[in-house]
Amino acid sequence: MRLVPLALCLAACTGGGFVSVPAPGLFVDTGFRGDDDPPESVEAILQNPCAVCHSDLLAAGQLNLLVQPRENLVNERAVGNPTMFRVVPGDPDASYLVHKLRGTHLEVGGTGERMPGPGYADLQLWQIQMVEEWIRDGAPPFQ
Ligand code: HEC
Repeated sequence: MRLVPLALCLAACTGGGFVSVPAPGLFVDTGFRGDDDPPESVEAILQNPCAVCHSDLLAAGQLNLLVQPRENLVNERAVGNPTMFRVVPGDPDASYLVHKLRGTHLEVGGTGERMPGPGYADLQLWQIQMVEEWIRDGAPPFQ
């Protein structure tokens, strides 16, 4: 993970004016990954940027990926296609999540947009393949 300091200034009112205090401990993850970075985890792939819309605050598609992402996916019926489950352990092709990421969700009777949705770049193929691999392995709990 590549971290870049978040340019955040804490304004402290001191008599006549404001004093800017940099907050050195605060970082944002740019998502940029260098050669020396460890491989991205499936959990991270399913949260960035997904949790922007899929959180307890804004559970788009009635799906929360911020809290208990695995539990909210595995053997949970897909809202956008109630004939399918979001994740069927061992079977990526039967998992609605995979079709939403690949953009084949309409072909299997689903609805809505390809994820991560308008305004966001499609996931890289290797990221989708990591999700498929995780499902093929039985969708085990994240470490
Ligand atoms: C910009 C907001 C937004 C982002 C970012 C986003 N989603 Fe969604 N997602 C939605 C909305 C809205 C729906 C419901 C409509 C639809 O199915 O397109 C949805 C639906 C879904 C569904 C179907 C749920 C169901 O039961 O029918 C899945 C699976 C899903 N998203 C996964 C993801 C994943 C994984 C990511 C990140 C790679 C992601 N989404 C990023 C807005 C978003």
